[in-house]
Amino acid sequence: MQLTVEDIKVISRLVEDLCGIILDESKGYLIESRLTSVAEEAGCKTFSELYYKARYDNEKVLQTKIINAITTNETLFFRDTSPFEAFQFKALPETIDARSKTATPRRVRIWSAGCSTGQEAYSLAIRLRNEGARWAGWRIEILASDISTAAIEQARSGAFSQMDVQRGLAIGDLIKWFEPDGENWRASAELRGMIDFRHDNLFDARAPSGEYDLLLCRNVLLYFTPVRRQAVLRLLAAHSHAQSVLLLGAGETVIGHGDDFIAHPEFRGSYARQAAMPGSAIGRVRRQG
Ligand SMILES: C[S@@+](CC[C@H](N)C(=O)[O-])C[C@H]1O[C@@H](n2cnc3c(N)ncnc32)[C@H](O)[C@@H]1O
Repeated sequence: MQLTVEDIKVISRLVEDLCGIILDESKGYLIESRLTSVAEEAGCKTFSELYYKARYDNEKVLQTKIINAITTNETLFFRDTSPFEAFQFKALPETIDARSKTATPRRVRIWSAGCSTGQEAYSLAIRLRNEGARWAGWRIEILASDISTAAIEQARSGAFSQMDVQRGLAIGDLIKWFEPDGENWRASAELRGMIDFRHDNLFDARAPSGEYDLLLCRNVLLYFTPVRRQAVLRLLAAHSHAQSVLLLGAGETVIGHGDDFIAHPEFRGSYARQAAMPGSAIGRVRRQG
């Protein structure tokens, strides 16, 4: 199936409208390699036909297939160890400390936005469960969302291939928290029960409700334009509080994308709300400075 410059233009626009992901002209190979089979399955003989079918797809079935095919779902357990260290040894103790000084219930809320097939959320759940006693009496809520229905389905099933579990998962955690399932492995019911996996578009008006103590939006912003990055950061800010910690991917930053978050003065590679309340880690550091 031949891909013309015009096809690249209209399909790129469609993809951006559907999920925010930018495909410039250099990404023609991505359209070809990821959407040829989608087009064929839909009975389209050209990419232009695929475009029109998808653009006017009231049922959104074809649109969903395009999103599932075009999103890059690369992920692994405990990806970049340092955010997990910051989470375990700094961000969470800080949260516990802040909670114990207020009447706020003993509850920790975490949102993994753009969670792909769930390795990030399972990694967090494993860290929390391995700390057992520390969290006795606490309610732990982990929301993990992604625009890819295929990724969310896999995440929810908790099923991972041998190759998946070899990427980042310690053997002790594999034995403790996963069960053999034919040639694959499946996360234990206990782990699966800790995470609410949800299909969600970060650009949809229907956002999750409430505030989160820890927000992860890692290796997601890089696919968006600066304007959309700012919109996502605004959404994350709207679901955070003064002590919340935001973690982005190793190559991502909030710099140049609005003023909702600033580099966290204590946790390297993490971000905090710009308008931090007195009493928060940020407030303290500012006063010391
Ligand atoms: C490269 S993966 C990152 C997964 C994980 N956060 C990590 O760092 O390992 C990027 C994920 O962002 C999701 N994504 C892209 N656009 C999205 C959108 N508009 N709303 C929600 N998720 C989106 C993709 O489906 C993909 O699973």
